[in-house]
Amino acid sequence: MNLYGALRPVLFRLDPETAHNLAFWLGERVCAWPRLRSPEVSAHLRRDAFGLSFPTPLGLAAGLDKGATLLPLWKALGFGHVEIGTVTPWPQPGNPRPRLFRFPEAGLILNRMGFNSEGAAVVAGRLRHRPAGLVVGGNLGKNKETPEAQALDDYRAAYRLIAPGVDYVALNVSSPNTPGLRNLQAPEALKPLLEGMLKLRSEMGMDRQPLLLKLAPDLAPEDLDAIVEVAVASGISGLIATNTTLDRGIVEEPLRSRVEAKGAGGLSGTPLKAKAREVRRHILTALRGRLPLIACGGLGNAEDVQGALADGAALTQIYSALIFEGPSLVGRIHQGLEQK
Ligand SMILES: Cc1cc2nc3c(=O)[nH]c(=O)nc-3n(C[C@H](O)[C@H](O)[C@H](O)COP(=O)(O)O)c2cc1C
Repeated sequence: MNLYGALRPVLFRLDPETAHNLAFWLGERVCAWPRLRSPEVSAHLRRDAFGLSFPTPLGLAAGLDKGATLLPLWKALGFGHVEIGTVTPWPQPGNPRPRLFRFPEAGLILNRMGFNSEGAAVVAGRLRHRPAGLVVGGNLGKNKETPEAQALDDYRAAYRLIAPGVDYVALNVSSPNTPGLRNLQAPEALKPLLEGMLKLRSEMGMDRQPLLLKLAPDLAPEDLDAIVEVAVASGISGLIATNTTLDRGIVEEPLRSRVEAKGAGGLSGTPLKAKAREVRRHILTALRGRLPLIACGGLGNAEDVQGALADGAALTQIYSALIFEGPSLVGRIHQGLEQK
């Protein structure tokens, strides 16, 4: 049995956030190990997207390593890229606990973390010591107390600190746990946000660094079409779809009542798979190849990843499946992709 196989029963008996903190504590010990090596992956898995070269199309989605504390570990697990964050410009605690719930029988996670963040300055400091040979993205958000009308100032403040330490930046306007954040997806709010960020990127002499936008799965088809046109016209580099969903309809009874009883938050994992895929397919059709897309949401095995790539996604990301399956999932997905 692998280490996670032995640890899993212990971790899953603990409160989810305590388990997360314990896993990170162990992870930090592993990162300090001088003999940490990355697995060999076939050169066939290499992918190029938005001007960057990725050793594999599989990445770690935002939200797990919010503070960039375990980068050597993600590299050693074989991830082709890691998206750190969401990072907010100023430190903030996030929502009160409990705010993270697992439903292992369904491969489902409910979270309302609410951007717990050490703040951009602390995370930027850590990025100065990032390992070579791993593509790192920085996912940015706004502080809870910042009024919606001043959101651009927050993204700019976080960008100034984080962008110099990462390979690409993702603007998160799709978390359901920061009041008003998703309103930034509306074209009239999105256009000035993207223009403002691209202007800052130019001012910083970083025109070649990709800027991506991460979208929610809870958008109507006509909204998706409008967002795609704003994104393409703005000149950003790509899209990430999707974040977690507010839609409780993706879960069947009797589990649904149990999920609803836990209160607010976004859902991720296996039950999100079909909905996220439908949204991605709509976006890919609307994009007509004009921008690359990173597929995320409910991906849990090599077949899912292969399916997303076959749909036209340039890269993929996972989060929830890693919690349920453990670190060996990365190698298994790579093996499956190589066989295909
Ligand atoms: C506990 C938790 C925290 C998350 N935090 C963030 C976050 O800070 N920023 C973000 O863009 N996405 C965040 N996400 C969303 C994931 O990046 C991903 O988009 C979503 O979980 C769907 O992928 P999955 O089904 O593979 O988990 C979070 C997800 C979970 C489960």
